[in-house]
Amino acid sequence: MQDLLQKIEHFKSEISAFSTTDEKQLETYRIKWLGTKGLVKEIMGEMKNVPVEQKREAGQVLNEFKQFAETKYNEMREAMGATDGAAASDTDLTLPGDDMPLGSRHPISLMRNKIISIFQRLGFAVAEGPEIEDDWHNFTALNMPEHHPARDMQDTFYVEAGKNSAVDWLLRTHTSNTQVHEMQRSKPPIRVICPGRVYRNETISARSHCFFHQVEGLYIDENVSFADLKQTLYFFVKEMYGKDVKVRFRPSYFPFTEPSAEMDVSCFICGGEGCNICKKTGWVEILGCGMVHPNVLQNCGIDPNKYTGFAFGMGVERPAMLKYGINDIRLFSENDVRFLKQFTSAT
Ligand code: PHE
Repeated sequence: MQDLLQKIEHFKSEISAFSTTDEKQLETYRIKWLGTKGLVKEIMGEMKNVPVEQKREAGQVLNEFKQFAETKYNEMREAMGATDGAAASDTDLTLPGDDMPLGSRHPISLMRNKIISIFQRLGFAVAEGPEIEDDWHNFTALNMPEHHPARDMQDTFYVEAGKNSAVDWLLRTHTSNTQVHEMQRSKPPIRVICPGRVYRNETISARSHCFFHQVEGLYIDENVSFADLKQTLYFFVKEMYGKDVKVRFRPSYFPFTEPSAEMDVSCFICGGEGCNICKKTGWVEILGCGMVHPNVLQNCGIDPNKYTGFAFGMGVERPAMLKYGINDIRLFSENDVRFLKQFTSAT
């Protein structure tokens, strides 16, 4: 104990005698006394040799010494005008700040948000579902049982599941799986809009990709009719493409809707006169739709005798390409900043 006290006295006088205004010397001081292998640490370690009855007193002395060494360091540092690690002399506060460029939204997000906001104004809520899905939610529930030929309309990526997996897993081919989840989860009235990424095993080219984005909608209640479907989509189109745009429905086929239709709008590039975009027809196809098939309602636990509903689905890439004059779908997923920074607003 006596040894220890002497040692501390000796150290204290050494510290008292020391003074510097040089940064390097100050750092040498810090390493010597306060560093992880410094003398303060070392002498603290001697506590374990102090007899039990003197530990209290020794502890106090050691702590004081530690503080003494630290205070000395801080005083010298302050005297040199240093603040928190950086010497003030290093910082010229009159220099202009670093340029911090703002990011921009991805054109797909802009288009998706625009579509969503129109339907939100009609009271649709946004629902999202899983991208890795089981075969039942993506196909079977939607009136496409196993071996149904309509499954081939959407080339599917299957996910290799363990041998013991009772179900087939896949990457969803449309966001209709979310509508199935919503129907199972809640009771009518149901009014949801389902945005998300979908996958199809297609050759990647300027016009098609193996993943893309969709926004689908679903409305189920008592007495919902095809007239409601048309009115909803009219509203959407006018908001999206302007008051003057014309609309036409063509009969179509989807296993999960009956009757089914595809909706075209008069070409908003040439105004219907005929251009490359509309392939000289004056019309651009923008979505598929129809009345929800009673089998689908039944599969999802909704009484088809009491409720009816409509559904629709559209891609996001194509309207975005038309709106921004983008001629290659691959640009969306290449993450080239020169491409991405050109987009600021969807309006
Ligand atoms: N799920 C269809 C598709 O991806 C789109 C669709 C949705 C059509 C709802 C009709 C009704 O092709």
